[in-house]
Amino acid sequence: MTGAMTGAMAGEASRVRRTTGAGSLARATTDEASPAWATTDEASPARATSDEASPARATERSFSHLLVCGGAGFIGSAFVRRLLARGDGTRITVLDKLTYAGNLANLDPVRADPYQAARFRFVRGDIADRATVWPLLAEADAVVNFAAESHVDRSILDSEAFLATGVLGVHVLLEGCRRELERRGRSIRYLQVSTDEVYGSVDAPVSEDAPLRPRSPYAAAKAAGDLLVASYAVTFGLDALVTRGANTYGPYQHPEKLIPLFVTNAIDGLPLPLYGDGLQRRDWLYVDDHAAAIEHVLRYGAPGAVYNVPGAGERANREIVARLLELLGAPWDLVRQVPDRPGHDRRYALDGRKLAALGWRPQVHLDEGLARTVAWYRGHEAWWRPLKSGEWEEYWRRQYAARLAAGRPFRAGDDAEDPLNGGPAGIAEERPAGRGGGLAEAAPNGVGGEPAEPTDGERSGFHGPAGDGPAGDCPAGDVPAGDGPGAA
Ligand code: NAD
Ligand code: TYD
Repeated sequence: MTGAMTGAMAGEASRVRRTTGAGSLARATTDEASPAWATTDEASPARATSDEASPARATERSFSHLLVCGGAGFIGSAFVRRLLARGDGTRITVLDKLTYAGNLANLDPVRADPYQAARFRFVRGDIADRATVWPLLAEADAVVNFAAESHVDRSILDSEAFLATGVLGVHVLLEGCRRELERRGRSIRYLQVSTDEVYGSVDAPVSEDAPLRPRSPYAAAKAAGDLLVASYAVTFGLDALVTRGANTYGPYQHPEKLIPLFVTNAIDGLPLPLYGDGLQRRDWLYVDDHAAAIEHVLRYGAPGAVYNVPGAGERANREIVARLLELLGAPWDLVRQVPDRPGHDRRYALDGRKLAALGWRPQVHLDEGLARTVAWYRGHEAWWRPLKSGEWEEYWRRQYAARLAAGRPFRAGDDAEDPLNGGPAGIAEERPAGRGGGLAEAAPNGVGGEPAEPTDGERSGFHGPAGDGPAGDCPAGDVPAGDGPGAA
């Protein structure tokens, strides 16, 4: 029976209302059946951006009870805090397994506020456990799935949990949604939070229809999740969408990721392990922008659609490090250039025009976001210090001990003969033009030139176990921001 259901059924899903034309997304009246979103507030991303690129006749959905899977993690908790702080009556159930990355303290602001706490429920459980998931789905009118193992380096050390959550867990959620569609005769909305990493390493900003070329176990598991979601939208008429966000940073991010790792290590005077030549590029998205984009797509996205969520500043890792050191007043000699991540993707870049046309763009400039982030970690040691003990010590040993032993002080410049920097391919650096959606800006410092395009697996530095490449000095030269050890 379900196989006969169509996309049109999905289109009738949830509670739907039409806006009255360009610029009116945020002013759409709320229907009787959906009090939860009745008060669109001033900070709504729709209101903030609706005059830039409003779809002519956008469809707005409203929800009263959301199931947020992985809502105790970095981005999920920002999404939950954002929605509940609005105080519009929305109820949220968070389902989270509380892995090493899940942290109830991320939801302290919610639990400390009586109004928000009354509309919030936390359930500890696994999205791959249908006995837990399906009853929760029966109460919800939309699901946003953030739950995943999210760190590439850990997926290289051990990928099993990535598949268990990213493939089997997503399947359990989708099956539950399919059952609800059969039971209710209409689909609940399902939003899968995915990543730009599913496209693999790219030469230019990619749009949503670009081929999926994941290159790490993490990215492969996420791509598999995306494909499952697409298959359920097509086959069963599920009202399901996918967002593919850029590298995200900001408060409450686990200190395993580049920016919080380097900030917290620098605060403690510990080494900052920069992989390979440090010229890998990422498009950085502030966490509140990412949460806002997901809300925007949840409300206005078309059933079955995929939306890229670009960041507001593409940078080489070296440039990020330079800015962090500047903000922290920390010296370049903390930076150690270490053997590269195997299969390290050289560049992620998203074409954000589709989401811009839906009325959303990032709001937080990278410089501003980095300053806020550094200030937050400085002021919240009680939050991050516990995360860098216990299990962390074993992780640090496995991930970094041999690398640091094989690494050397950071030297930028003439990388041509430098195995850590990957030879000629490692020198090259581009300043690509962004394509749509971003707060376009130029790279701020002196790494420039045209990129050479290395082949897969040959991009930068030696791969494989630490210790199989020389660790000697290379010639000093240009350093990001001009104050690195090479200039000292
Ligand atoms: P995170 O690791 O901080 O949080 C993941 C959360 O999911 C944790 O609270 C964890 O306990 C929970 N979880 C893991 N497995 C689970 C399971 N089986 N059942 C229930 N809960 C489970 O990750 P994040 O950085 O907040 O990322 C959230 C989502 O956004 C992920 O799907 C990730 O792929 C995606 N994403 C992340 C980024 C980024 O830069 N961090 C960028 C784009 C997309
Ligand atoms: P990360 O935060 O792990 O995100 P992703 O792998 O999803 O992009 O890493 C961001 C970039 O920083 C990536 O190019 C790898 C690099 N990196 C380092 O150079 N050293 C580190 O210790 C870490 C964690 C990352």
